[in-house]
Amino acid sequence: HTYLVVMAGGIGSRFWPFSRTQHPKQFHDVLGVGRSMLQLTVDRFRGICPPENIFIVTNRDYIGLVHEHLPELPMSQILGEPIGRNTAPCIAYASYCIAQHDPEATLIVTPADHAVLREEEFRRLIREAVASARQHDVLITLGIHPSRPDTGYGYIQYMDEPAHHLPDSALYKVKTFTEKPNSDLARMFVESGDFLWNAGLFIWRASVIIEAFHHCLSDIAEVFEEGKHLLGTPLEEAFIEEAYSRCRNISIDFGVMEKANNVYVLPADIGWSDLGTWDSLHQVSSRDAQGNVIDGEVLLYDTRECLIKTPHERLVVVQGLEGYIVAEYDNVLLICQRSEEQRVKEFVADVKAKK
Ligand code: GDD
Ligand code: MG
Repeated sequence: HTYLVVMAGGIGSRFWPFSRTQHPKQFHDVLGVGRSMLQLTVDRFRGICPPENIFIVTNRDYIGLVHEHLPELPMSQILGEPIGRNTAPCIAYASYCIAQHDPEATLIVTPADHAVLREEEFRRLIREAVASARQHDVLITLGIHPSRPDTGYGYIQYMDEPAHHLPDSALYKVKTFTEKPNSDLARMFVESGDFLWNAGLFIWRASVIIEAFHHCLSDIAEVFEEGKHLLGTPLEEAFIEEAYSRCRNISIDFGVMEKANNVYVLPADIGWSDLGTWDSLHQVSSRDAQGNVIDGEVLLYDTRECLIKTPHERLVVVQGLEGYIVAEYDNVLLICQRSEEQRVKEFVADVKAKK
């Protein structure tokens, strides 16, 4: 059977003032389409994975929000983490849970806050990856053609030819996986033309990723092996509390993808964006003739190349603005040049210090 594991415990702090500790990016309607990123993520897998096989892993503090956004999911399919320990423990928790009752399970592990514009092609690739993961003991990731030397991504170098030893698959064997390289390396990788970005979306059998944990992150595997018989029982919460206190904070990318030797990539031309920044939202959204992206009740005069996202109950009138972000959420109004958006981090730090 095929299962979906949605990793929905991060904060996504660059999207301020929308992403906040209390209400992170995955719970916002970032694209202005009437569905949150989490809802869009689950929608995307309709027809691939039945509702009873969808698991959301999130911080305990966000369980209520997840339930609000996905009321059709039983609470038993929302896995709560006591603390954020990054994606490796999150994936271990879900994998052990699912493997307990379905050892043959195939998992699709997805972030909760990405945009995919070409959904049909996306679904075709996912089906292809699921079929390969069923047949072979492989760790599959989707690879995206890089457009800039961004240091926030994993970089994948892969063999020129599809993997012939895996019949019926379009997978390429991964030669090297480098998570978040420094900027010199990132520039070299992009210029060489031999690298893809890791989309952070993985396909594998539960048994194969658990085996990889034993090899690459044996400390985390041990913690979950000890208590796996408690998963799905009334003692699960107490076990998880203790398990997380013993797990180190490490991502699946650093912990497993960089080290395992059965990693394969499926190149994906799917109109992907991780919406990591305001600018990436401007790029994936539909723009008016003047290049503005608008989500709100807005009247514009002589305004170009702006991104305006304001509460729908407020009328906003803008004259003579070019290349700006205007974003209001929850009593915070941000007005910032689009070219200066990397300074949002600095603003957030100053705002926190003022409180
Ligand atoms: N449940 C849970 N618990 N989810 C988490 C946790 C956690 O402790 N930490 C992060 N997540 C979720 C985030 O909400 C997001 O959906 C996903 O896991 C990925 O985490 P990020 O923190 O956004 O990772 P990243 O963007 O730095 O890097 C990853 O994604 C890039 C593509 O966007 C890596 O996989 C990179 O290699 C990749 O290129
Ligand atoms: Mg991310």
